[in-house]
Amino acid sequence: MSDTILFVALPYLALFVCVFGSIYRIRTQPFSYSSLSSQFLESKGLMWGSLPWHIGITVILLAHVVAFLVPGLWQSLMSNQTVLMAVESIGLGLSFLCLLGLIVLAVRRLTSSKVQAVTSTMDLVVIFLLLLQVGLGAAIAVHCRWGSSWCSGTTTPYLWSILLLQPDTTHIHDLPLLVKAHIVSAWLFLLVIPFSRLLHMFAVPLEYLVRPPQNVVWNNPRRFEAQAQPFVKEEARRHFLNAGLGIAFGGFLLSMGTFRNIFSFFFGPRLSRKEEAELMELRLGRLESTVSQRKLELERQAANCILVAPLAELNSVTGKYFIDYKMQPAIAFKGKDGLPLFISAKCTHLGCTVSNKVDDQGKILCPCHVSYFDIETGQPNADAPAKEPLPHLGWVIMDERGKVLASRNAKGETTGAITALTEANARVYIAKSQEESA
Ligand code: HEM
Ligand code: FES
Repeated sequence: MSDTILFVALPYLALFVCVFGSIYRIRTQPFSYSSLSSQFLESKGLMWGSLPWHIGITVILLAHVVAFLVPGLWQSLMSNQTVLMAVESIGLGLSFLCLLGLIVLAVRRLTSSKVQAVTSTMDLVVIFLLLLQVGLGAAIAVHCRWGSSWCSGTTTPYLWSILLLQPDTTHIHDLPLLVKAHIVSAWLFLLVIPFSRLLHMFAVPLEYLVRPPQNVVWNNPRRFEAQAQPFVKEEARRHFLNAGLGIAFGGFLLSMGTFRNIFSFFFGPRLSRKEEAELMELRLGRLESTVSQRKLELERQAANCILVAPLAELNSVTGKYFIDYKMQPAIAFKGKDGLPLFISAKCTHLGCTVSNKVDDQGKILCPCHVSYFDIETGQPNADAPAKEPLPHLGWVIMDERGKVLASRNAKGETTGAITALTEANARVYIAKSQEESA
């Protein structure tokens, strides 16, 4: 529910307000959306703040846009380890540059009395949001390393799903809180653009590149007509440029199928019989997977223990996947002591499912960003992106009549024992009581 509000409703509200609010303000208050320069009031602090901020944020946002618009190219670039390292280091460096610039700008706004006089509450809100956004970005770069790589399978498909009007939050569901907060604060940032001086971002004076040098027009009726001529031309050129940009943007949206999606969103799908059947099949598949998930949840609510496997079926090389009481993936192995060894299969880095194959050093691999976990201790290798160990889970062994033969809790405390005689009929379960106390 909260995912739907924060990652579906909020983005659409933010995009709607940003696009239509900005157009409305540009049309109705054409002289209100400049950056309202305060350079003549105070210039030293401005230089040390504005320059690092604009250099840093322009490059970072450009990288965001490229990663989003051409995900295939970005992914293939990031699959080269040297490029990935370079992009990560430059990103981190630039985020600190931005933070530094922003802090200087914030201090300047709060301490210079001249600048304070022209500072509105909205300016302070904007500075706060930017500090939050960039601070969270820098924290992601430090704590959730290789974001330039994992964004291709998480945030990029999520953003595309929003743009193509088929919102899908499953891509970001398991991301750490830091990344989710960064995304929410980006939508809030979009939301305030039309009400703040941030609107100047869309007022890049491109026509300055092509306009003729400025003319001073004398108030002389005879000269007036001749002097006005270049301005008429300039106006026409500006309209031409705007129309060109509008057509290019429209063409871009058209090529992505956005208009088709908007049309089918409002007027229902116009599908052939074959397409309709395929869509039904897809929906049926999704429903089936939801049903089987709900069944698992119900089973876990109703039963105090759930069968994982007969003990004889477990081994130390290939684990058996199962779903624990918290509906998270886990793997069952046989440990060195001949007893079951249950370990969580949810990577402690960003939540990918860890492989169930043990290598010759007793480790299992999370393929997403290459973390190896020791199955006996749960610990990741020293330079892995994952920092926390995979937790072990408790288990209970019962015979076919339901008599408990042995058990182990999540802390690793074992009771009972298995003999060669009892092993043949022993079955391994997870127990609700153990997981609730863990
Ligand atoms: C929904 C929109 C956004 C998404 C999905 C997003 C996603 C990300 C991701 C995945 C990273 C980590 C990159 C890495 O570790 O290399 C990141 C970093 C960062 N983001 Fe965003 N971001 C969004 C919007 C923004 C906005 C609007 C700003 C600034 C106004 C911003 C500023 C930053 C900064 C400063 C960094 C750290 C620099 C870096 O490591 O590249 N982000 N963002
Ligand atoms: S999710 Fe990144 S290493 Fe597992």
